[in-house]
Amino acid sequence: PLADPRPILAAARSARHGVGAFNATLLEHAEALVSGAEAARAPLVLQISENAVRYHGGLRPLALAARALAEAATVPVALHLDHAEDVALVREAVDLGFTSVMYDGSRLPDDENRAVTRQVVAHCHAHDVAVEAELGEVGGKDGVHAPGVRTDPAEARRFCEETGVDALAVAVGTSHAMASRDAVVDLDLVAAIAELVPVPLVLHGSSGVDDETLRAVVARGMTKVNIATHLNKVFTGVVRDRLAADPKLLDARKYVAPARDAMAKEVERLITLLGPGTPE
Ligand code: G3H
Ligand code: ZN
Repeated sequence: PLADPRPILAAARSARHGVGAFNATLLEHAEALVSGAEAARAPLVLQISENAVRYHGGLRPLALAARALAEAATVPVALHLDHAEDVALVREAVDLGFTSVMYDGSRLPDDENRAVTRQVVAHCHAHDVAVEAELGEVGGKDGVHAPGVRTDPAEARRFCEETGVDALAVAVGTSHAMASRDAVVDLDLVAAIAELVPVPLVLHGSSGVDDETLRAVVARGMTKVNIATHLNKVFTGVVRDRLAADPKLLDARKYVAPARDAMAKEVERLITLLGPGTPE
């Protein structure tokens, strides 16, 4: 069913588990995310980013499809608007039934980020929608990698207290859109922030983080783990192979279906890796 992410993240936080938060830009991605979570028998955060909305020319079509998938799912699925910088888009997501939004004011001066985040929280909480914010910009959003940025633990705590957010994205060494899994995460900083901050922490740019480090980050107190690029790589890799293998292929379903299957399998594997069990 469509779910509120707050109890899911709260339970995971106290058990020191991670929750997979994965992005969909296509309907088949959303289908793969939900079937992967169902196979893992664990909750999912299904994310649609402001960038994906720009690509489609609007939020409504993909959002309504994703919501229908969430409602029909056999596991709890939170529907989350990712990296919204446009407050009007946040309001549209609330009206469309999203259970969670990320307002990303990390490019703004901290004071302004705090002020706008507080307004977003007021609106979203009035509609029972959860809010994630970001303090300390996680780089790579426009192709420029900036893994050097760090969130200060005391400032992070103050930001949460002053804004009332439900989850906080922090800069601890990752950067968005990394094609190889070789990011160096500052694990001590993760533990220091987790100790001071009263809400679940969110790792962005997790595609750059290898399996072992993902587990270490979660063990230090990271809760929501956002992955997009790595899953795109899995999906597109299969499409590329199928097209190369058969130059006569015309029906899109013939190359999209195996890509969707491969993505679902990787989602299942990642959720299991982040969860309580020992991965095979
Ligand atoms: O908000 C989305 C994530 O931070 C995804 O980042 O594409 O580097 O995995 P990624
Ligand atoms: Zn992100």
